[in-house]
Amino acid sequence: MCGIVGAIAERNVVEILLEGLKRLEYRGYDSAGVALLDSDGNLTRTRRIGKVKELADALHQYPVKGATGIAHTRWATHGGVTEANAHPHFSSERIAVVHNGIIENYQQLRQDLTAKGYGFTSDTDTETIAHLVHWEVDQCKDLLTAVQRAVKQFHGAYGTVIMDKEDPERIIVARSGSPLVIGLGIGENFIASDQMALLPVTRRFMYLEEGDVAEITRTSIKVYDRQGRLVERDVSESDVEHDAGDKAGYRHYMLKEIHEQPTVVRNTLAGRLSESGVSANIFGHGSEDILAKIKHVQIIACGTSYHSGMTARYWLEQYANVSCNVEIASEFRYRKSFVHPNSLIVTISQSGETADTLAALRLAKEQGYTASLAICNVPGSSLVRESDMAFMTLAGAEIGVASTKAFTTQLTGLLMLTLALGKYNAMPKIVHDDIVKALHSLPTKLEETLALTQGIKELAEEFADKQHSLFLGRGDQYPIAMEGALKLKEISYIHAEAYASGELKHGPLALIDDEMPVIVVAPNNELLEKLKSNVEEVRARGGIMYVFADKQANFKSDKTMRVINVPHCEAAIAPIIYTIPLQLLSYYVAIIKGTDVDQPRNLAKSVTVE
Ligand code: AGP
Repeated sequence: MCGIVGAIAERNVVEILLEGLKRLEYRGYDSAGVALLDSDGNLTRTRRIGKVKELADALHQYPVKGATGIAHTRWATHGGVTEANAHPHFSSERIAVVHNGIIENYQQLRQDLTAKGYGFTSDTDTETIAHLVHWEVDQCKDLLTAVQRAVKQFHGAYGTVIMDKEDPERIIVARSGSPLVIGLGIGENFIASDQMALLPVTRRFMYLEEGDVAEITRTSIKVYDRQGRLVERDVSESDVEHDAGDKAGYRHYMLKEIHEQPTVVRNTLAGRLSESGVSANIFGHGSEDILAKIKHVQIIACGTSYHSGMTARYWLEQYANVSCNVEIASEFRYRKSFVHPNSLIVTISQSGETADTLAALRLAKEQGYTASLAICNVPGSSLVRESDMAFMTLAGAEIGVASTKAFTTQLTGLLMLTLALGKYNAMPKIVHDDIVKALHSLPTKLEETLALTQGIKELAEEFADKQHSLFLGRGDQYPIAMEGALKLKEISYIHAEAYASGELKHGPLALIDDEMPVIVVAPNNELLEKLKSNVEEVRARGGIMYVFADKQANFKSDKTMRVINVPHCEAAIAPIIYTIPLQLLSYYVAIIKGTDVDQPRNLAKSVTVE
């Protein structure tokens, strides 16, 4: 989704801004732009539709300089993908603004500002910020005060950075509902929506909190909270790899991230899982006492993270004897729900900035849950900072829009949560010991499963000309079928639906013919015989099946069924293992179709608007 980079320095910041934008490309966008203030006080702007490369080419063809600048990648929400709608937005060639989020009352503000004589040149909500700040600065003659007054009039979400040509020694930033991080340099300072953008220039970061407005000069940072009080915010040192953005020789980030899974799952387990299991304190300070009280878990997440939550529900109820509900964050936040006694709210998110998940957490915190736990991949993210406890998945930076290693590390964390809660809820020792053993074997099993690549590449050829597909699974493999379908549609644009296979005869069976490939995940578990009956129902209707199965499940390839044997594994980790072939399948189908695998059309990596 939209990305922001800004800098105030002694040197020309054009390349810093462009590099920052490139590092945010993975988030998804459709246009990019930059505004610069040069030493003679000139404000310039360059914007282009398409990739950051188009913007970089334009800036190299018509060079501009500036030691203060703001830049943006836009993912269209209000107004089409046009140069006029791209950020930065100006008010009378004086105020320049970049903005992430949505100003929901922009139409009213637009009317008021039009009545005051401001002319609009775009269809965006963001342009109202530029004009409103301009109006306020004309009244109070101080940019900081003007921004503080303006943000009080916004409804919605914003992470915004503002420059004033008449006040060139500072930039003002404000956040509410959209993340912003200040990067601290020596004699220069930076701002971005994600620290990834600034890693080439600093490793010292200050995260702004909700409602903060900050004044940034070359040598100072002053932060004011929502009430306008001068406040201190912590500065932390980032340990994120500087070159986490490299493809390491792989053709796409997604493929690199698929192959990193044995390593990042190993990292996620390391120091947390011993021979005797897990200690509850891996979920944060004081978590032992909290988890001991928990009798019910409410999971909230979106997309792939929701699928890991759905899988966890099977585990928590089956193994840990803890009841569990799972809900999509955008539904949870807009309906009345009931809080069970001794309930833990668990949010799951790769980015920790997903607007719906964050809003659902904030709502839940008002509803009387015993505590909140975030399972998240980004330290310092809003979700982590606003939760009572956090479990960091150690997947490393995930760049591909299609989530892969974040999913399997989330599942790894959730299986450890199952062990931790099981301890207080009569989990039988034999079940506990089997899960611990299975988790220890997980990284190696993942390595063995990745060896299926060649067979899956060949199988992908049979999908490339298909329009539709059906994914089937039962029990804890049903969410894995859903995740497989999501991966395929996200990056290959083939329509894919997932069903719990027992549901087939209640409708979807009508779709079956030889043009609709049916993908089945079939580990050797207690539901195998039921699944086999469902497979026969498909075969009887002329369906063509691709079955990922444990060898012991005894499926045989024939003219209606292609069987790919997946390495045998313990039942508890089977959902994690069976995810791998489905990721590989979607990747190789997308390669044949020639889609933009890492940045699929219309999608954003981090969905910071609702
Ligand atoms: C997965 O491939 C997606 N791109 C998407 O569904 C994602 O999982 C969802 O937007 C939630 O993101 P989060 O994990 O960062 O909260």
